[in-house]
Amino acid sequence: MIYIGIESSCDETAIAVISDKNRVLSSKVSSQIEVHKKYGGVVPEVAAREHLRVIKRLYIEALIEANISELDIDAICVTQGPGLIGALLVGVGFAKGLARSLNKPLIPINHVHAHIYGSLLEKNLSVDSVFPALALVVSGGHTHLYVMNHSLDFNLVSSSIDDACGECFDKVAKLLGLGYPGGVEIEKLAKLGDSYSINMPKMMSKPEQKMSFSFSGLKTHMLYLLDKEEKPIENKRLSNICSSFQSEAIGQLVRKLKSISSDFPDIENLIISGGVSANLYFRDSVEKLNFKRIIFPELLYCSDNAAMIASLGHEIYSRTTRKDVFFDCTWSAYSRYMEKR
Ligand code: KG4
Ligand code: ZN
Repeated sequence: MIYIGIESSCDETAIAVISDKNRVLSSKVSSQIEVHKKYGGVVPEVAAREHLRVIKRLYIEALIEANISELDIDAICVTQGPGLIGALLVGVGFAKGLARSLNKPLIPINHVHAHIYGSLLEKNLSVDSVFPALALVVSGGHTHLYVMNHSLDFNLVSSSIDDACGECFDKVAKLLGLGYPGGVEIEKLAKLGDSYSINMPKMMSKPEQKMSFSFSGLKTHMLYLLDKEEKPIENKRLSNICSSFQSEAIGQLVRKLKSISSDFPDIENLIISGGVSANLYFRDSVEKLNFKRIIFPELLYCSDNAAMIASLGHEIYSRTTRKDVFFDCTWSAYSRYMEKR
């Protein structure tokens, strides 16, 4: 079986081809960072138009790189949501057209769930050996912790009540004048600083807040802190600010993982995924937690890509006996299938 993945939920257009052994035959990503940089964040209308401009070329390039023709395609997997509606429509429209013209099943995919599958790519792991697991997705739009008893059991147990962790990195980077996206820039400067130099509030540390994440309070704290700083902020001070901020933003993730995992003593595996999982300070901090196996994505698959979309599609499609539900190209067919499980 050959699966095509299509992703267009935010500011990356991506097309991938994977085989039924979960091998990535090609994974093309066209980033819009340069286009949105001058606005300091993603402009939805501009994003949708960019997707429209590149999607067909990217699709052709993905087929060529994978060395396949359209006749080899067995199923099409596309990000259904969450995401920017105009941006999503481009990928979904393209995928529906493809599915109809090739008369192949269309598998709608939840982008946040797919990030978890991004962490398993090119790892030579059997999916069955990974679950049960806790799975944390830390991206620009989501901070979601799932308990997964099996490969398609996305049981959300904790999420952010306001900003996502990556969003907080981006907004604080903007306050610091570091550009967009800000996570990488903050990490670079944080490496040169002292994380203990500036006191940060310990967010969400009351017992009743155990099951939720929150990042907007930390962002506001940074806003007030930076207001009082003498400008321009001198280099050493800037590194110290980044390092102290990063230590608390990541610190909250790690504290929550530690306390929530104690409620699930039988779960020995942890999967970390999403754009923020590229952060090495985060990886080092998580490594210290008490899990039997901790799985991080390859750096290539931390941020948005279509191989993760195809990989989850592969898992869904290969597990269902009702293959026909996917042929009518509707989301309701997919929901019916997921509800029945
Ligand atoms: O998963 P992703 O590519 O897109 C979404 O689905 O949102 O995540 C992008 C987010 C951005 O907020 C970006 O700043 C953050 O991941 N990010 C990082 C790092 N690399 C990317 N945050 C902290 N440290 C990094 N090294
Ligand atoms: Zn994402």
